[in-house]
Amino acid sequence: MTTHLATEGRPAGSPQGSGIGDAALPVADLVVVLDFGAQYSQLIARRVRELRVYSLILPFDTPLAELLALRPKGIILSGGPASVYDAGAPRCEPGLFTAGIPTLGICYGMQLMAHVLGGQTGPASRKEYGRTRLFVDEPDRDEGLFRGLEPRLISWMSHGDTVHRLPQGFETLAHSDHTPYAAIADHARRLYGLQFHPEVSHTPWGTDVLRNFLHTVCGCAPSWTMTSFVERAAQEIRTQVDTGRAICALSGGVDSSAAAALVYRAIGDRLSCVFVDHGLLRQGEAERVVEVFRDHFGMPLVHVNARQRFLDRLRGVTDPEHKRVLIGREFITVFAEEAARLGRPEFLVQGTLYPDVIESGTRTAARIKTHHNVGGLPEVMPFRLIEPFRTLFKDEVRVVARTLELPDEMVGRHPFPGPGLAIRVLGDVTEERLAMLREADAIVTEEIRRGGLSREVWQAFAVLLPVHSVGVAGDARTYGHVVAVRAVTSEDGMTADWARLPAELLETISNRITGEVRAVSRVVYDISSKPPATIEWE
Ligand code: XMP
Repeated sequence: MTTHLATEGRPAGSPQGSGIGDAALPVADLVVVLDFGAQYSQLIARRVRELRVYSLILPFDTPLAELLALRPKGIILSGGPASVYDAGAPRCEPGLFTAGIPTLGICYGMQLMAHVLGGQTGPASRKEYGRTRLFVDEPDRDEGLFRGLEPRLISWMSHGDTVHRLPQGFETLAHSDHTPYAAIADHARRLYGLQFHPEVSHTPWGTDVLRNFLHTVCGCAPSWTMTSFVERAAQEIRTQVDTGRAICALSGGVDSSAAAALVYRAIGDRLSCVFVDHGLLRQGEAERVVEVFRDHFGMPLVHVNARQRFLDRLRGVTDPEHKRVLIGREFITVFAEEAARLGRPEFLVQGTLYPDVIESGTRTAARIKTHHNVGGLPEVMPFRLIEPFRTLFKDEVRVVARTLELPDEMVGRHPFPGPGLAIRVLGDVTEERLAMLREADAIVTEEIRRGGLSREVWQAFAVLLPVHSVGVAGDARTYGHVVAVRAVTSEDGMTADWARLPAELLETISNRITGEVRAVSRVVYDISSKPPATIEWE
């Protein structure tokens, strides 16, 4: 069983990371999430972690023998975009359902379970998306999933197919107005199915259902913690790197800083950290990164000034995906050069997070945008990757960072994308336009901080738009640049809402930008949520 904690260079489109640890290491209670291509598979794993049970995500076609060898105490089948009756629909081995392991199928996972065990699944006469009323049938009789819950609940549905006939031995636990089998169980075989999504935050009591499954049905002890994650990850890195050496791409953000601290814990000074100043950073950022790093880590930092070469690469490039790919490539080229100077370490450490992976596209999930550290990497690399956070969400990495005793300034920092301001200067990336954006961005950051909103807001920044607009100043016509202000709230960066900033604060930001940043005559506030927009504009 190979671990995905440390992976070979993996371009977009290859399988997603499998979990957060090496199953060969001793694990008290393990629950496997079988992934059928859902956007939510990691969210399921995350909820399991929140319930303090160790979880591992495996592809749907993992051989049964391999899966059983892990001795999981429970299995969760994820949702997925396919229909079970389609030719080529993803399937697991039928023996999974007779292996005596408690199994919970969610959405597609439930439909597959019903289909394989002799029930009937097909298109729903009426599709259900979003908020849906759920009625628990005979809640008192249910020994399992709905114990302790109200009989009337609001659930979150997203399905076009449904189970029309239950397999033998199954009974209904809950129904909705249009779905007679919204939750089903075969208590004797400990097989369960949910048509709704207990893992999404819009089904707030979904965690109770998962808790009932994990703790009561599977009998898992709630003993897993982030500290055990850190210990396990450090041990895996030690095994993986062996007597080799690693180089870390340090950006100064919490992800790469925590990754560096973790790898440093594992292999000590066989790790070299390299900070590449690509000239796409915010005002004063490069100096601050170097300062904080040198104060808080006792290890040497190589500071590479690569500003000009990144600018040269980006000259005339306006397509967002092209920018991202070029920046990813240039990063690797710079690292390869530094690595040569440092005696060619075999491993490259990156702070890649799960949203970077899923949005860059996987074998089963669609590509939304190429995150520079995932799909932006060239197919052939002189490094093997160590990405300890490939399956974690931002807030989980913050917990890891605290466990590793990183300074608050680093832990609390707003996320900043690897391609930096290049994807916030829409259109041509020039020195002049970068300077303009830096000034505007510094004003946004400063005013948000002054307003005491830095913690409430997930990210706040300025974007320089590729248009001019007409204005009037001092009785004369102007034709100036337009800056968009983006501020969002979010839990994990996967979904986000625009922040309801006070009007006075927006006014101050607008007045300062138009007054202080030369040639900017208009400021707009972005009021789009994600989805359908993304947080960044490119
Ligand atoms: P989007 O724009 O996809 O962003 O809604 C979600 C979160 O990810 C950050 N982001 C990136 N981070 N490399 C990164 O390290 C990237 O290429 C990248 N693109 C977006 C973004 O700032 C937000 O927090």
